[in-house]
Amino acid sequence: MPRVFVTRPIPESGIALLVEALGEQAVVVSPHDRMITRAELLAGVRGVDALLPILTDSIDAGVMDAAGPQLTIIANYAVGYNNIDVGEATKRGIAVTNTPGVLTETTADLTWALLMAAARRISESERYLRARRWDSWGPQLLLGVDVYDKTLGIFGMGRIGQAVARRAAGFGMRIIYTDAQRLAPETERVLSAVFVDKATLLAESDFISIHCPLLPETRHAFAAAEFRAMKKTAVLINTSRGPVVDEAALAAALKTNEIFAAGLDVYENEPEVNAALLTCETAVLIPHLGSATRATRARMAEMAAANILAWFRGESPPNCINPEVLKARTEKRV
Ligand code: DGY
Repeated sequence: MPRVFVTRPIPESGIALLVEALGEQAVVVSPHDRMITRAELLAGVRGVDALLPILTDSIDAGVMDAAGPQLTIIANYAVGYNNIDVGEATKRGIAVTNTPGVLTETTADLTWALLMAAARRISESERYLRARRWDSWGPQLLLGVDVYDKTLGIFGMGRIGQAVARRAAGFGMRIIYTDAQRLAPETERVLSAVFVDKATLLAESDFISIHCPLLPETRHAFAAAEFRAMKKTAVLINTSRGPVVDEAALAAALKTNEIFAAGLDVYENEPEVNAALLTCETAVLIPHLGSATRATRARMAEMAAANILAWFRGESPPNCINPEVLKARTEKRV
């Protein structure tokens, strides 16, 4: 029976699927509800056939070596997979899967929560109230910026970017976007989204929401030059991956009022947050919660389990990101 190692407790419904199909003995879940240490990870993977890591686990050649050659699938508990050396896995014939789709709407909701909070200074206002500094209603107290009728710029128009765009319709916003790949004309029409280059996105957006994957070409895609090019009243939202934004440059831009506010769910060196950013009143900062609802986290667990079980039934895992491996397995069988 194939053995599975899960690097941190995930919702029970996913574990139950694995146990039901493979048996209790075959499924080992790290007992610690904290980030697994490198030593624990290397020990935990030894001899397993499948690995179910979370996005904070760095799955590289060292981990694959420690597991041994019988490791044939890594089922990431996340849609992003920048924590996995996919090239190395492919070289070794290891299938890598992720959890796309099930967290799209939940992450789009959270993006909007950040956008509204940053625009209307919700975190700052609550801190002000709780500190008992509120002495009266004031015509100029804690003024924010409007959302309705403004321009929303989306950087990365994949599934989540599109879900964010759909929500903007209710606010009567103009939507512009940039992406390495332009959407089909029909999708652009349905979303009322206009494709622009990055310079136009920076210059014309009142809100910029980042939804690109972390790739060498998107690392620090938002740095000092980008903040200078944005409107002084602009708000930046990032729910994708932290290193897309240069945190030090963002803190400087907020402190010098180069842009109005920011809402961040993700950080360059999680769980560390840039010290200067922590002192910016106009930054709304939350700890990587994009997909954090009970229902969505359960669906992610079930999806990761389903990917593993499909693989061991000899089928193609539904969410394989290196299909070359599947092709090689089919050819080997023939
Ligand atoms: C992901 O899945 O990549 C998110 O960052 C966490 O759900």
